[in-house]
Amino acid sequence: MRASILLVPSVLVLALSACKPAATDATAADAPAAVAVATAGPSDAELLAQGEYLVRIAGCNDCHTPGWAQNGGDAPRDQWLVGSKVGWNGPWGTTYAANLRLKAADMDDKKWLEYTANLHTRPIMPDFALRAMKEQDRLAIFRFIKSLGPGGEPAPAYLPPGQTPPVPYFEANLPPPPAAAQADAKPAAAG
Ligand code: HEC
Repeated sequence: MRASILLVPSVLVLALSACKPAATDATAADAPAAVAVATAGPSDAELLAQGEYLVRIAGCNDCHTPGWAQNGGDAPRDQWLVGSKVGWNGPWGTTYAANLRLKAADMDDKKWLEYTANLHTRPIMPDFALRAMKEQDRLAIFRFIKSLGPGGEPAPAYLPPGQTPPVPYFEANLPPPPAAAQADAKPAAAG
């Protein structure tokens, strides 16, 4: 399939090059390689840029980077995605945005894609948004997290309902979640 896709432009280029002066022959020789790159998906650099973009606009930094929202969407890069000590307290207990750089440290592309496709966490993590993302977007986020390297400490451990967390924390005054939603939420691993 791929061979036939490549063949058509190559043949076209060769046919066209026959009409051109000799000086442009080098361009014709390079053309098939350029076509191959175009069909192979984004380059590593493009994936990284896309990952950074998604981490900025999909809210990952808002919760997983200390001070991000308070500083108007900015933080030193070595602080990005190291998790947060600000608790999210509600009927589910108290959760803390995990250190994604430590989480990603022992994963490869394949493991991350499986993991994020099936991710079920407690609130207030929008796990549904991650599950709904295209594979390439989840891969781009992963490559970007990996590029930051492991850093920071694990986030504080989850506290069960009824336990008052230490400050600082956000408090959500909500009715208890439906039983089905609670059964669906598998506790996230430490980190
Ligand atoms: C509104 C705040 C918020 C936003 C936005 C958010 N997260 Fe989270 N995230 C959390 C919290 C809180 C947890 C911990 C949930 C728990 O304890 O079950 C978490 C957990 C996770 C986990 C599971 C970590 C583990 O140790 O199991 C992953 C992976 C994750 N987030 C990735 C992301 C990515 C990627 C984005 C951006 C697309 C994102 N999060 C956006 C708050 C958030």
